[in-house]
Amino acid sequence: MESAEIRRRWLRFFEERGHTVVPSASLIADDPTLLLVPAGMVPFKPYFLGEVKPPYPRAVSVQKCVRTPDIEEVGKTTRHGTFFQMCGNFSFGDYFKEGAVTLAWELLTAPVADGGFGLEPEKLWITVYEDDDEAERIWRDVVGVPAERIQRLGKASNFWSMGVPGPCGPCSEINYDRGPAFGPEGGPAVNDERYVEIWNLVFMQYERGPGEGKEDFPILGDLPSKNIDTGLGLERLAMILQGVRNMYETDTLRVVIDKATELTGVAYGADHGSDVALRVIADHMRTAVMLIGDGVTPGNEGRGYVLRRIMRRAIRNVRILGATEPVVGDLTDVVLKTMGQQYPELLTDRKRVETVALAEEAAFLKTLKAGTNILDGAVTETRAAGSTVLPGDKAFLLHDTWGFPIDLTLEMAAEQGLTVDEEGFRRLMREQRERAKADARAKKTGHADLTGYREIADASGSTVFTGYTDTEGEATVVGLLVGGVPSPAAVEGEEIELVLDRTPFYAEGGGQLADTGRVRLDTGAVVEVRDVQQPVPGVTVHKGIVQVGEVTVGAGGYARIDVTRRRAIARAHSATHLTHQALRDALGPTAAQAGSENAPGRFRFDFGSPAAVPGSVLTDVEQKINEVLARELDVTAEVMGLEQARRQGAIAEFGEKYGERVRVVTIGDFSKELCGGTHVHNTAQLGLVKLLGESSIGAGVRRVEALVGVDAYQFLAREHAVVSQLTDLVKGRPEELPEKISGMLAKLREAEKEIERFRAEKVLQAAASLAAAARDVAGVALVGARVPDGTAADDLRRLVLDVRGRIPGDRPAVVALFTVAKDRPLTVIATNEAARERGLKAGDLVRTAATALGGGGGGKPDVAQGGGQRPEAVDAALAAVERAVAERA
Ligand code: ALA
Repeated sequence: MESAEIRRRWLRFFEERGHTVVPSASLIADDPTLLLVPAGMVPFKPYFLGEVKPPYPRAVSVQKCVRTPDIEEVGKTTRHGTFFQMCGNFSFGDYFKEGAVTLAWELLTAPVADGGFGLEPEKLWITVYEDDDEAERIWRDVVGVPAERIQRLGKASNFWSMGVPGPCGPCSEINYDRGPAFGPEGGPAVNDERYVEIWNLVFMQYERGPGEGKEDFPILGDLPSKNIDTGLGLERLAMILQGVRNMYETDTLRVVIDKATELTGVAYGADHGSDVALRVIADHMRTAVMLIGDGVTPGNEGRGYVLRRIMRRAIRNVRILGATEPVVGDLTDVVLKTMGQQYPELLTDRKRVETVALAEEAAFLKTLKAGTNILDGAVTETRAAGSTVLPGDKAFLLHDTWGFPIDLTLEMAAEQGLTVDEEGFRRLMREQRERAKADARAKKTGHADLTGYREIADASGSTVFTGYTDTEGEATVVGLLVGGVPSPAAVEGEEIELVLDRTPFYAEGGGQLADTGRVRLDTGAVVEVRDVQQPVPGVTVHKGIVQVGEVTVGAGGYARIDVTRRRAIARAHSATHLTHQALRDALGPTAAQAGSENAPGRFRFDFGSPAAVPGSVLTDVEQKINEVLARELDVTAEVMGLEQARRQGAIAEFGEKYGERVRVVTIGDFSKELCGGTHVHNTAQLGLVKLLGESSIGAGVRRVEALVGVDAYQFLAREHAVVSQLTDLVKGRPEELPEKISGMLAKLREAEKEIERFRAEKVLQAAASLAAAARDVAGVALVGARVPDGTAADDLRRLVLDVRGRIPGDRPAVVALFTVAKDRPLTVIATNEAARERGLKAGDLVRTAATALGGGGGGKPDVAQGGGQRPEAVDAALAAVERAVAERA
């Protein structure tokens, strides 16, 4: 039975039994505790926890899943895959143990002709949790499974949770006996290769707390209702129904193995080692394509790292099998073909998926060779030093400079019998991160030492930000630093850092630049605020200069920001949100924000994209943004729980740390984003947004820069003025400009070529008269002359050779011409064969001339070139050449 048919039967069976069919969610989990979806129940977690009322009592799905903790096992065992599809049926407070058990049994054992999977009941073995008498009774008495095929197992295998706080419960697994070829008898308690688990029924009824591993966590209490969560591995069932020995040989993966075989020339089944490599390639490439399909891009953190690691493992295994050409294109292609049948969005997104995959291969291949050399060197050194542990700094170098995921280094070192000082590696990574952070802080605050700010925070608490609603207001000085050191007072002219109890000033953050403005104190002091930062969380530091008076800690006063600047920044920030959404709409979820800067009247926005964004796409994006402005959408902000924000679909930056309460900025029906910045009230305030273009700022990251409002208008007005000038100049309409100007440029190039031809002709015309003027020096025809200044070296050479050719070959000839170009004398000297037979070599003669010119030169005996520093010595050099000819001939 084909995988697609298994899927169809699964969904149909449960749909006919009152389950709502729910499509697979994205692999990118909408859950802050998970990087990627590891189980079918993830999208239903809020229903189990009672956070959200389930819209249906029963559901069925086939969910895409990725699990990587067992990545080392892939290809070695028969049933570990990094990507798999979990078929699940779910009950939210509806049926419980008996319902789940009887449904499962019916589907597995019903004849194929009746829509079931037709498994023989005698081959099915059951496990239940150690104290779950009820489950055992149902299997035995209701279903009729003989007691000897029901086994009890402990918490590690038969109590299921997501590994983190959340729903959990005892479970019961259905295992299939693959026969004696796969190991000794005795049931799943003895051997899980022979008695392979196919279906896990979880009786989800408790909530667990934090803890380690599969056993060590507390049960916090009951869930609001008793639920069912099941998971049947589609690939495992396919393995059984298709009668193959392992999941890699099932229909959807086998084609990838075959492609890998074709690309590497290594047959599947030839030997264990190469079979493992082929399975790794097939498994990993499929996972990679599925991840990219859901919007993951390769990177060094989080999901991006998972993807990078598996792609690089796949590519390296291809190399190990001997292929040297890029292969990712072909492998991606087969995966798209097979998986595209079940996930058609992969085919619509084909171009993007291919681009991302190919870019990662190209990046890796560029560094693989160099990195492998470094690693080999390090291995040799380590062995020579009598050690078996590769030093952490080498692993760090490989990571930092050559993009080797640490796991790759571990693997490659292990292949050579070495381990890696992982602790050392991690320490260096930490140090690098700390350095980068401290650098960034030092750049902003001028001080890497944050003690002063922390003291203020400890003494006075966090600064209250009033700037979402107010642009001015009363405030008290709670901290003052001069030169980074806390001080009680500061006087006129001093540069200070001021901390207030409350402030309308926005500290630079989230890509938004700081406000500027003034703080006037009751003491009469005025502080001009030029920058605002948050060196430690919660403490807003106003950096500025005391213009008049004395600032003292404790003084009251009034803070006022530059409102014009703030408004221009707010326009830019709202425009950034619109751009973000419009880019996502156009390019898909990979166009996630990678950075931004919102300044008065302009912004830049960095986002993930494997390739340049075509001009036509940018034009569309710009048009869409401007259409949104005209719809006069309200911009609102609301503080809510992180979960709620995610449920509302707010865009958050993955990898960012958010608190439990987050601020969500909504622009009408168009955009919703987690954001702490200040915005306009209505999109109409933006007026106009003009994207200035797009560029690359690093691997897979692009940047658009744009102008907003009056700045955008002024830019367009300037461009318009330039176009007007041009139309006047070329006497054409604006739309004719490109054609007219390219026509002019073509003519200009033609004319330049013509001039070049004339010049060359003129130089050669001189050849005849120069040859005619040859003088006899000791029986040698010597042409020695200075040609017009500015003759190019190439022209001079051509001329010299032309002159030489005009002197009859039986007559020894030396041609020595000089010119001065840019104040430098230059000479080219040529001899003919008859002259060379008399010992006159061009190289020697050039050296003679060049010495006189105060320089050097050289060349072959027949033609040589030289130059010097002394243009006034040309005549002397000529004379020296003549003497040399006379002497040597
Ligand atoms: N959630 C259960 C599992 O992943 C069904 O095994």
